[in-house]
Amino acid sequence: MQEKIESLKQEMLDALMASKTEGETRELEIKYLGRKGPFSEVMRGLKDLSNDDKRTIGKLANVVKNELEVAVQKKYAFLEAAAMDQIVETEWLDVTVPGQKPVTGHRHLISKFIDDLEVIFSRMGFEVADGPEIELEHYNFNQLNIPDDHPARDMQDTFWVKNLEKSVLRTQTSPVQIRYMEANEPPLRIISMGKTFRKDSDATHSPMFHQCEGLMVGENISIANLKGVMTAFLQQIFEDDSIKTRFRTSYFPFVEPGLEVDCTCPICHGEGVLKDNQPCKLCKQCGWLEIGGAGMVHPKVLENVGYDPQKLTGFAFGMGLDRMVMIKYRVNHLRLLFENDLRFNTQF
Ligand code: FA5
Repeated sequence: MQEKIESLKQEMLDALMASKTEGETRELEIKYLGRKGPFSEVMRGLKDLSNDDKRTIGKLANVVKNELEVAVQKKYAFLEAAAMDQIVETEWLDVTVPGQKPVTGHRHLISKFIDDLEVIFSRMGFEVADGPEIELEHYNFNQLNIPDDHPARDMQDTFWVKNLEKSVLRTQTSPVQIRYMEANEPPLRIISMGKTFRKDSDATHSPMFHQCEGLMVGENISIANLKGVMTAFLQQIFEDDSIKTRFRTSYFPFVEPGLEVDCTCPICHGEGVLKDNQPCKLCKQCGWLEIGGAGMVHPKVLENVGYDPQKLTGFAFGMGLDRMVMIKYRVNHLRLLFENDLRFNTQF
């Protein structure tokens, strides 16, 4: 019996030595040390032995079984360490390699520009007002002194909204003037920025574009105030104190007199040529850039909203926001601003 136990021990140790995986080791553990294994059989057979043999054989069987259990645990530990070595060898991580910067987004050029306008005009005491993009004909035209069949309606090729009576996609931000004056008492100073729509399409015109509207109404407001506000604004937005403005007479039914606002070209500073005497392409060598329309609020418009034109005067202006973005960031095609091509957007 003793020899059988010793030979079983050797047999299992040899098999353990040869086992290559945790699974194989587990099979050996069950085969030799499990309930149906040879050691259990030895233990069960003890009852048929003499008392002396029972003691010596039983003790030996227990010692050997314990030794084998220790050997099994050692084998598991060895296999685990070997597996870890393998992982370290094949899956190592170099913590000194510089990390990859995650791509972070930013606001669109137009949104950033709108934020900048808000900051500049807020500093001059202007409040930001808002209006709907689908606008009633009443606000987009009539209240602005552009009644039905007025030829000025042809100046803005309009999208009319089907199935929504007397509604248009607003052609200008000027209706916000009316909505704000109807709801508020003078004196007031507001700007309003947003989307506007016209049936227009070329390198500098798009069916959807953005405007910035300004309105200041109170007592003794004059064109001098308009000029001061426009000049201060343009100098700040183009970050150039040398910028000058000029007004040319024009016609908009809701202002009188009506004006076109120009500013000196921020690239050639009004010279028409660059430092190296090359012609300035932005202003086409004329030294001036058209920024938008403006004028003194028409008395009829003040009357329409219930203000007294005998006591109050005001100025209004409406600028093409996209065009200012194109000037500031040297963008040569309007559509680039709306195509959402990341190769373009991420440059700013
Ligand atoms: C107006 O829309 C007037 N509401 C501006 C105004 C407000 C005048 C207050 C007086 C008092 P106008 O149609 O000129 O004006 O448009 C103003 C600016 O919008 C233009 O100078 C131009 O920069 C821009 N603009 C007009 N149409 C388009 C278009 N299709 N695409 C891009 N920009 C445009």
